[in-house]
Amino acid sequence: MSIPTPTQGLAPQLDPYALAADLSGKHLIGGRLVASASGKTFDVINPAKGEVMGRAAFGEAADVDAAVAAAVEAGMMWKALPARERGRLVAECGRLLTAHTEELARLVALETGKALRTESRVEAGVLADAFTFYGGLGGELKGETVPFNPKMLTLTVREPLGVVGAIIPWNVPMMLMALKIAPALVAGNTVVVKSAEEAPFAVLRACQIMAQVLPAGVLNILSGFGPECGAPLVAHPKVAKVTFTGSVETGRIVSRTAADKLIPVTLELGGKSPMIVMGDADLNQAVAGAITGMRFTRQGQSCTAASRIFVHDSLHDAFVTALKAKVDAMVMGDPLDETTDIGTIVSPQQFDRVQGYIAEGKRTPGATAHECSALPTEAGLAKGLYVRPVIFTGMTNDSRLAREEIFGPVTCVIRFTDYEDVINQANDSEFGLAATIWTRDLKTALDATQRLQAGLVQVNQNLVVQPNLSYGGVKSSGLGKEATLEAMLEHFTHKKTIMLNMA
Ligand code: NAI
Ligand code: MG
Repeated sequence: MSIPTPTQGLAPQLDPYALAADLSGKHLIGGRLVASASGKTFDVINPAKGEVMGRAAFGEAADVDAAVAAAVEAGMMWKALPARERGRLVAECGRLLTAHTEELARLVALETGKALRTESRVEAGVLADAFTFYGGLGGELKGETVPFNPKMLTLTVREPLGVVGAIIPWNVPMMLMALKIAPALVAGNTVVVKSAEEAPFAVLRACQIMAQVLPAGVLNILSGFGPECGAPLVAHPKVAKVTFTGSVETGRIVSRTAADKLIPVTLELGGKSPMIVMGDADLNQAVAGAITGMRFTRQGQSCTAASRIFVHDSLHDAFVTALKAKVDAMVMGDPLDETTDIGTIVSPQQFDRVQGYIAEGKRTPGATAHECSALPTEAGLAKGLYVRPVIFTGMTNDSRLAREEIFGPVTCVIRFTDYEDVINQANDSEFGLAATIWTRDLKTALDATQRLQAGLVQVNQNLVVQPNLSYGGVKSSGLGKEATLEAMLEHFTHKKTIMLNMA
């Protein structure tokens, strides 16, 4: 089986405005940048300046048909390649993406408003790492032999599912795309991605970079909105599997369509992750953990955000003072500026939504809003979607702010005295994505890790998602796991049983 030779090497382009202009109006279908069948486009906003930075192709059913057809055609050849050869090409994608880290970081910073130094560069690194990680796992697509009958050779093999539809959000678009497409491709599937309307360019550029080594049609990406582009992708009869990250509401819609088609679906949805700080915790470590856990540098736009922080009565006031001081010291500014810690909210819709929660919190009897840091003063950022981080105290776990996913820089610090009570409060949530507990007591730590209802429980740390750590939630936080070898085997292959009768 011959593999097409890579197209001309793309040189890194560090000017994100120039890149956005180049990519405007394009999908990537069958290895080529193409316009929508209708020729329609939509504006993409730079949320730090409130300016149009480019126009993305407006994908619709006709574009979905073209992309799925390309993926079906490429699938025959792709699945026939030796698994380690697919892995080698995916690892090569990782190498190329590494060479483009800075350009991708700048582009994603421009379209999402995420600060370059603290967020966007980190994301671009994880993107490349996910391809490197999965690229090494081709040889692990193993089956088993089954001791069924000595006269029969009975074995299982892992087969790809076919065309995978991947729908991704805007908050960490490159990383979340990578956790879907890298395992799907290594397992022998071909992929059609639907990017988020707020952040279509960095993921398109990443796919264009990978198209230099992947055979045409193996990886396709469309930009567009949910109802016009996402829905026909999920509903397409040739799409054999859907993997989705986004809101619970949209996850339910996607899941219903998948149920009608009887195809498997993986869902990574929201969270309201509890962080429990016991009275014996190291205060400084816990405060630093709240900063990373709450993703203040990403304006709290994370499904894992530690947005319910339960602090023992004995530490509560010192914790709030120290946390506020740390967030106050963070610099809000232009996402592309190296001195900026905190950028903007992604879109006017999210901005209004977050402001709505903050206003409601301020009206809540007994609650106090501690507003932190300071809005940038540069004239060019006057229309930027900046929101000062807010720490609410005096809020109870049954308030809307403590129950619903805000996806903004808003956290509730809730005072507790009793351990049993705090475990019950932590578990009293629709969600179950992640949880942390901060204590020096081994018995408490062990007990909490067993009782907290979440896909990921950490003690005395709040590390972020990365390859080789199983990631995914329970309850309304989703179905299925991502980021590991098992995720590739369970979510992107099916096990075929083969019996050879030699009697
Ligand atoms: P969303 O779930 O509507 O969007 C996520 C993706 O789904 C986007 O690509 C969107 O175009 C697509 N989509 C929307 N409707 C669809 C449909 N009917 N069929 C197929 N695809 C569809 O999330 P949105 O509107 O961006 O944000 C709303 C809230 O969702 C946020 O405030 C946050 O609470 C949550 N969210 C959670 C994320 C996570 O990482 N778990 C990521 C993004 C949002
Ligand atoms: Mg939506």
